[in-house]
Amino acid sequence: MKRFRKYRVNQIIRDKFAEIKLYKDNLICPFFVVDGKKVKTQIKNFYDVYHFSIDMLLKEIEVLYKNGVNKILLFGVIDKKYKNTMGTTAYSEKKENIVLRAIKKIKQNFPEILIFSDICLCGYTSHGHCGIVKKDIIDNDITIKYLAKMALLHAKYGVDFVAPSAMMDGQVGAIRKELDNNGFKKVKILAYSAKYASNFYGPFREAANSVPAFGDRKTYQMDFRNIKQAIEEIKEDIKEGADIVMVKPANLYLDVIYAAKQTFPDIKLAAYQVSGEYLMLKLLVKKGLADERQCFIESLTAIKRAGADLIISYYSMEIAKCLNY
Ligand code: PBG
Repeated sequence: MKRFRKYRVNQIIRDKFAEIKLYKDNLICPFFVVDGKKVKTQIKNFYDVYHFSIDMLLKEIEVLYKNGVNKILLFGVIDKKYKNTMGTTAYSEKKENIVLRAIKKIKQNFPEILIFSDICLCGYTSHGHCGIVKKDIIDNDITIKYLAKMALLHAKYGVDFVAPSAMMDGQVGAIRKELDNNGFKKVKILAYSAKYASNFYGPFREAANSVPAFGDRKTYQMDFRNIKQAIEEIKEDIKEGADIVMVKPANLYLDVIYAAKQTFPDIKLAAYQVSGEYLMLKLLVKKGLADERQCFIESLTAIKRAGADLIISYYSMEIAKCLNY
């Protein structure tokens, strides 16, 4: 008989024998930024996630940073009246493109914080699709030109990583080229390489006002029955110049994360615990059926154990407060 229980006798022993550990350094905290002043509004149904105006966001980020998390992901949320079929606000310097001002302000105030920004048109198009629509089809090759323009603007305002999430073919290559040709060789790319057409993005679409007005995203996001294709997508993104690759969602796709890490051990791998995965846990907790912190630590540790180096989670602030490493 092998005595395994000797490794479990108390917390100190368990900590010593733990194979992996979740660190604050693994976390990226997403934020939704809106125009205005003094805005911190809880997003409908999306417990403890808020729309922030820049002034309030700066305060939030200060707390996050003091608690040891130094990576954030920004989503600009704009008023309906600034959306149109081409999503022009996304690649314009007009003041309604709020995320640009947010990037600049955060960089001025917290130069050591790594800023990632979402590069996608869905929050900017009136139809809510991630690209330019021609005759009800999302046109790949036109869209990637605009994604590249959008990424270039974010770079000009000081972003560290652009994070293309539109799932257009060639988006990473197009962005890399645009950045390099314009003197932004040091701006890096976090590629949403294996992003699935998931049913678990609901609360996010509420937050970003990006529900597609017609159809769905299945012609560009991945079919959840596929895993070999995820590896191909990742391979292609690495070839096109991705610095970090990502699998999304995370908790339901641990097999994909594992396969990605085994296949590409040398590239940093990120995973996104998406809004629906977050909310499932929150609801369990709200019903009194689990301890919130323990529940999130377990689910995020599972993502790390599968092979993710970086985890995007709406629970990052809480983790920052409760972990001391
Ligand atoms: C934009 C984007 C989405 C998410 C991240 N970037 C929504 C979508 O693809 O519809 C979802 C994140 C989440 O659910 O937390 N394309």
